[in-house]
This record gives sequence, structure tokens and C-alpha cells, in this order.
Amino acid sequence: MDILNRVRQYREEEDSLKWEGTFAEYLEIVRERPEVAQTAHSRVYNMIKSAGLAERDGKKMYHFFGKEIFGLETALERLVEEYFHPAARRLDVRKRILLLMGPVSGGKSTIVTLLKRGLEQYSRTEEGAVYAIKGCPMHEDPLHLIPHNLREEFFKEYGIRIEGSLSPLNTMRLQQEYGGRIEDVMVERIFFSEDKRVGIGTFTPSDPKSQDIADLTGSIDFSTIAEYGSESDPRAYRFDGELNKANRGMMEFQEMLKLDEKFLWHLLSLTQEGNFKAGRFALISADELIVAHTNETEYRTFISNKKNEALHSRIIVMPIPYNLKVSEEERIYEKMIRESDMSHVHIAPHALRAAAIFSVLTRLEIPKKQGIDLVKKMRLYDGESVEGFNSVDVEELKKEYPNEGMNGIDPRYIINRISSAIIRKEVPSINALDVLRSLKDGLDQHASISEEDREKYMNYIAIARREYDEIAKNEVQKAFVYSYEESAKTLMNNYLDNVEAFCNKNKLRDPITGEEMNPDEKLMRSIEEQIGVSENAKRAFREEILIRLSAFARKGKRFDYNSHERLREAIQKKLFADLKDVVKITTSSKTPDESQLKKINEVVARLIDEHGYDSNSANELLRYVGSLLNR
Ligand SMILES: Nc1ncnc2c1ncn2[C@@H]1O[C@H](COP(=O)(O)OP(=O)(O)OP(=O)(O)O)[C@@H](O)[C@H]1O
Ligand SMILES: [Mg+2]
Repeated sequence: MDILNRVRQYREEEDSLKWEGTFAEYLEIVRERPEVAQTAHSRVYNMIKSAGLAERDGKKMYHFFGKEIFGLETALERLVEEYFHPAARRLDVRKRILLLMGPVSGGKSTIVTLLKRGLEQYSRTEEGAVYAIKGCPMHEDPLHLIPHNLREEFFKEYGIRIEGSLSPLNTMRLQQEYGGRIEDVMVERIFFSEDKRVGIGTFTPSDPKSQDIADLTGSIDFSTIAEYGSESDPRAYRFDGELNKANRGMMEFQEMLKLDEKFLWHLLSLTQEGNFKAGRFALISADELIVAHTNETEYRTFISNKKNEALHSRIIVMPIPYNLKVSEEERIYEKMIRESDMSHVHIAPHALRAAAIFSVLTRLEIPKKQGIDLVKKMRLYDGESVEGFNSVDVEELKKEYPNEGMNGIDPRYIINRISSAIIRKEVPSINALDVLRSLKDGLDQHASISEEDREKYMNYIAIARREYDEIAKNEVQKAFVYSYEESAKTLMNNYLDNVEAFCNKNKLRDPITGEEMNPDEKLMRSIEEQIGVSENAKRAFREEILIRLSAFARKGKRFDYNSHERLREAIQKKLFADLKDVVKITTSSKTPDESQLKKINEVVARLIDEHGYDSNSANELLRYVGSLLNR
């Protein structure tokens, strides 16, 4: 079995990463690769950096986040530059709790999860390797073994600053197991793993009355007190609180602001002093990144409470707003659908875009700048060009509302509406109209939307609809013109023959009957009218074409479909006008004739092969565009 081979291979890889040796041997590693002794914050920063970055328009885009988080480059750049980077350099921000603040389902948990999964991976790499005192439940930093008095000397020799004191448990073990011989203490390489509770922890508050501080700091193990004789014997203590387990790595604090104060104080002392108090021992040193997340309302309530002032100053708040770019929003939905149970459903092209236009509009603030409306702003934010505006204007627009993106419709809501649209359809295929309809229905049911917002949002749905109508018409036109490349050529040759006969006052010969005929004035006009050539200007236009034609002939070049810009446009429009009729007919008549049916089928095939529709959504699109054209 192949998979069994892979399993064995995997186990071998795991084994090859393992390392165990004495403290003396560990020091050799430290001398060669001092990064193994870096702080938790520094490891996180280096992990982010090591994934690389790209710069676009002077903005840094960290690849570490790039695969999962879309459109939040500015917020993430700030997070890295204002928190992780200085924290890695042991500056003071490290001593604050990192609080990600943003609207619901704006990606806060996703960012934290990325950091956790990232650290698990990173600790298996050479650069991210972590070592700990063997057998220590808190995977204590081996360098804590170096007595305080010698640390200055250690710094001179190794260039590494050691923070924190040896824990009560390891102090005791050093005496009892190693007879005080630091150099003999066993050290091992550890691998972060949330499942195994190594270096990664999560804390979720439960009922404040019943929640025990032990969940954070560990607790006395009463069953062993008798054996060790005293509660203050560190062996009688279980260092299995979340803060213990997350030592050396990171800990996520969910709903931190809902937490009872007594819990928060533990955190504060940990972040501020690098230690916390457990049981009846001296302080326990720990080194970990603490990340919490919250929404704006909760945060405002928290800081408006005087009692929380001291806490407030020890928290660093990083805003995580909603993404404000339509195309990035589409990517968010694509990802969420891929990860959901809807991944088998056909989502017609532009369905997600229509939803994204709507949700981004709900998040944008009305621009104050002259001559720009919300839709133009939306386009500019998405990097589209809008006549009369440039990138400087975009920056100015952003400065108008520095806190933009903290409100509006969230991605999860959109996904929920998409999934209820799917349930309503018989076939597993939905299009933009289904999605917009479902969003509209959803607004009626959405309890937390004010009457005022509802009206605004209805209008945004209408805007999204109009945007979609344009896209839909264009797409059908393109598909049509393309699959009629041959017809376009024939039509053009036909036109040219007639023009030639007209200008030279000749007759044409019917290719089949051989009969002589006058130039077909009706055909020529039906094409020329498409680009606004008037009755009076038709002769000049035809003569110009003829001159061009003979100029081509003189140079031995073939005059073809692409040789004359305006003529090509006229032909395409003529064809599309013909299509209008075809589409109109097929939507109104239940029995299109054979040639109409053939045309429709060609366009449908084109939409499926080249534009990503399935046959259901392609037919829906044609019917819809047909009805638009009938208006
Ligand atoms: N900017 C974004 N890029 C990629 N995915 C995003 C983004 N914003 C939201 N999502 C997706 O939306 C969903 C919700 O995000 P997440 O749970 O991280 O939000 P949150 O801020 O923690 O929300 P809550 O406040 O409800 O806990 C996830 O599937 C996430 O992948
Ligand atoms: Mg969350």
C-alpha cells in the first residue's frame, strides 16, 4: 500500500528531527545557531519573515498571510511592523497583550490560526527549532539553568540575553536528579503542537463563576500531596494550565474581554513581568506571545470602564477591518465555498462578484471628495482605473476615513445566503441573480439591521444588479461575436463586395443563380448605421473603405476582418443586433427554428468552454440577457 509507505516515511522524517543531549551539548548548538535560543516573539516574527514578502505600490505583502487572508495587506503590514517586529527586538510592545480588534467574521480567528499552524510547522524547520529541558511540563528554556550571576558573562560570550528564572520544579530536579550539575541536565528538541499541548494554547472563557484559574496556571495535584508531603513541593503541582503549556510559543485568548478580572491580572503580570504566580511557589517565568481578539463594541465597553484602565494600557490594539476590495472579496468567498459542503455546486461566473460588490458597498463610507460617488470609490479601491482619478486620489479617499471597514456585511453572512440560495434551487448551479435575490430576502429576516440600513442595503443590491447586467450583456456579446467569427468574415466580405459595386457603379452577380443584381443598399446601411454613419456620409465612408482596400492590395496584404477598426466594430455590432433578435426569439418563442437553435447552441458551447459556465447557467444567462434586451 502506498499510504503505508508514506506513513513509514513520515515516521522516519519525524524521527530524524528528534534530538536529545546534555546541556553541555546543547550549548554547542546554541553557539553555532544562536537562533534556537530566540524568544517566542522573535520566533513568530522570523517565521512570518521567512515566508517572504512582495512589495506592491510601496506596500508590503507578507506571503505568510497571503494564501489565506485577502485584502488586508495594510492591516497586516501594520501588525507586523508595529507589533511583531519591535517585539522580536525585545522592545516594550512585547510586554503587552496583542488584541486584534475587528468586526465579526473579519478574519481575526483565521489570522490567529495561521500563526498557530505556522508555528507548528516552523518548529520542525532548522531555523525555527526549539529546545527545552527534557521532561519539563512547561518545556522550559534550557538557558534558564545558567545562574543569574553568570548571565552577564554568558551574554559576553554568546551574545544572548537570558530572561527568566529556573522554575521551582526544575530547580528541584537539578538538585535531585543531577546533583546540581547543570551541564548534565538533559535537553531535547521539542515540536510545537496544539493537539499535544506543546507551545500552543487556547483559552476560552466559560461561565465566569465556575471557571477556575487552574485552567490558566495549573493546579495542585491532591493525589500526590501525600507522596511528596507538602503542597509546596513542586512535584505535587500539575503544570497543565494553558499558560504553562503555551510556554515558548503562543496562546490564543478567545473572548478575552468577557473574562473575569482576576484572570486578566494573571495575564498582565505574565506579559509585563514575564512570569505568573501558580500555587505556593515563587513566580514562574514564561515566554509566550499572547493574542486575544474582540469586536469594537466589546472593546469600547471595556475601556469605558474605569476599573480596566490599568489593563488598557497594557494591551496593544490592532484593528483588523473588513476587506474593501471587490476582487479580494470574491477570493474570500471562493475559499470559504471550497472549504464548505457546497464545493460541488456550480457557481456561475460573476455570481460571487455580484455578492462582493454588495458587501463591499455596505462597508464603504460615502466619499466627501468632489466628483466621486460610492461606486467609483469601490472601483478605485479595487485598483480599477476611473477616469479623472489616480492613485493619489485613492490615498486621499482612504485618509478621509481612517477607520473604514469596521462595519457592514460580513463574509459569513454572504456565504450563508449563498447556501440558502442553493437549497432553493433544484439543480446544484446558482448564478448572480439567485445570489442577489437571496441577499435581498435575507435583509428582511436579518434582525440586527436597522430600518435605515436596510433601505441603504436594498439600494446596494440594486447597484450590484446593474453592475452584473452590464457584465452579463458584455459576456454574451463576446461569446456571440466569437462563435460568429465565420459569420463576421462572411458578412464583411459581403459588405465589401457591395461597397465595391456601389462605388464603381457595377452590378453584382448572384453566386448561385448567376443573375445580375444591384448592390444591396439595405445590407450596407444596416451595418453602417451601427456606428452612426449617416445617409449623407455613407458615400465618403464607402469610398474610404475602398481606398483602404486597394492600398492593401497594392502592398500585397490581405484586407481582413481586423484591418479597419470602425468597420470591425460595425460588423460586430450588427452581428450582436442580430443576436438580440435570436435571443429575443428564443426567449419569447417556445419553438425556435433550426438555425436559431443552432446559433444558441454555439453560444452556449462557447460560454461553457471558455467562460466557465455549466449548461444550466449558460442557458439562464442567455435567457436573462434576452429579457434585458427586450426591455
Ligand atoms: N480578509 C479575509 N481574507 C480571507 N478570509 C477571510 C477574510 N475575512 C474573513 N474571512 C473568512 O471569513 C470567515 C470568518 O473569519 P474568522 O472566523 O477568522 O473571523 P473572526 O474575525 O474571528 O470573526 P468572529 O468575530 O465572528 O470570531 C473565515 O472562513 C475566514 O476565512
Ligand atoms: Mg473569531
